[in-house]
Amino acid sequence: MLDKIKQLHDEIASLTAADSAEVEALRIKYLSKKGLVPALMNDFRSVPADQKRTVGPAINELKSFATDKINALREAVENKGADLSGIDLTRSASPVRLGTRHPLSIVREEIIAIFRRLGFTIAEGPEIEDDWHVFSSLNFAEDHPARDMQDTFFIQRNPDVLLRTHTSSVQSRVMECTEPPIRIICPGRVYRNEAISARAHCFFHQVEALYVDKDVTFADLRQTLMYFAQEMFGPDTKIRLRPSYFPFTEPSAEMDISCNLCGGKGCAFCKGTGWVEILGCGMVDPNVLRSCKIDPEAYSGFALGMGIERITNLKYQVKDLRMFSENDVRFLEEFTAAH
Ligand code: DAH
Repeated sequence: MLDKIKQLHDEIASLTAADSAEVEALRIKYLSKKGLVPALMNDFRSVPADQKRTVGPAINELKSFATDKINALREAVENKGADLSGIDLTRSASPVRLGTRHPLSIVREEIIAIFRRLGFTIAEGPEIEDDWHVFSSLNFAEDHPARDMQDTFFIQRNPDVLLRTHTSSVQSRVMECTEPPIRIICPGRVYRNEAISARAHCFFHQVEALYVDKDVTFADLRQTLMYFAQEMFGPDTKIRLRPSYFPFTEPSAEMDISCNLCGGKGCAFCKGTGWVEILGCGMVDPNVLRSCKIDPEAYSGFALGMGIERITNLKYQVKDLRMFSENDVRFLEEFTAAH
């Protein structure tokens, strides 16, 4: 009996058919009520009881093998005439929609890449900070207005635990535990207690850069800024440094770049001045170095900090800051090509 099954199996395996009539004839021959496979099933009754356990499954297997084979033959003859030439069989059935990178991520990566070419490495710090790293170590006076409740989100008072208001806090964290030379870039999110509007948000993003070594001068800072501005906004970009004040730098400056919309001629975007402000910077105040156990007689450094939203606005003219955090796909999809 098993031999018979095997023989029929081989026979069915080698079947071919040219059209559906031939397939139907094969179906009748093998699978119809009076076909060869059901005939075997009838013979099964006369198989001795001790062989039934092996013969039964073999017949069942043969039946499904024959059914699959006939179905496959039918499918093959039915599709034969169809024109498949215009069909891409390698294409996925449901197209996968690629996401886009967030504009702030695109710009952050670009800033990091520019500073990396100058030998800066990334440093990160916590968003939940203490007073020392955000203010005291950075030479903020006890009554400095930035410490005010109106600017800072406090989580706890005495000892103060707060959401960092700037990424300058990472400067002191790194300086405290690193022997110069230090050359770091610190991207991160910062928080300020501001009413949310088109021009202000209670959280935004900054990138801080810090360079501390022997004989670092303002000329090093200026060249670094120049390189950054021209890499970021194009080789014709001009920079201008205006004296300013920050507790942690002395001297301090704010940097403007020539307006990249009008090329410096004056337009509505730069309010007719031809310049737009993009960052704060300066030479690290000796008090800050001292707070972080670095000898200001032996070392000097420069620092700079910029808002990623601001740089992104300059590059892409996003008018409303809220767009960055609303997850509106129509907005995000505009950056598909900017990867
Ligand atoms: N921390 C400043 C802010 O949040 C930005 C800044 C200004 C950072 C000057 C610096 C700097 O490192 O030197 O507005």
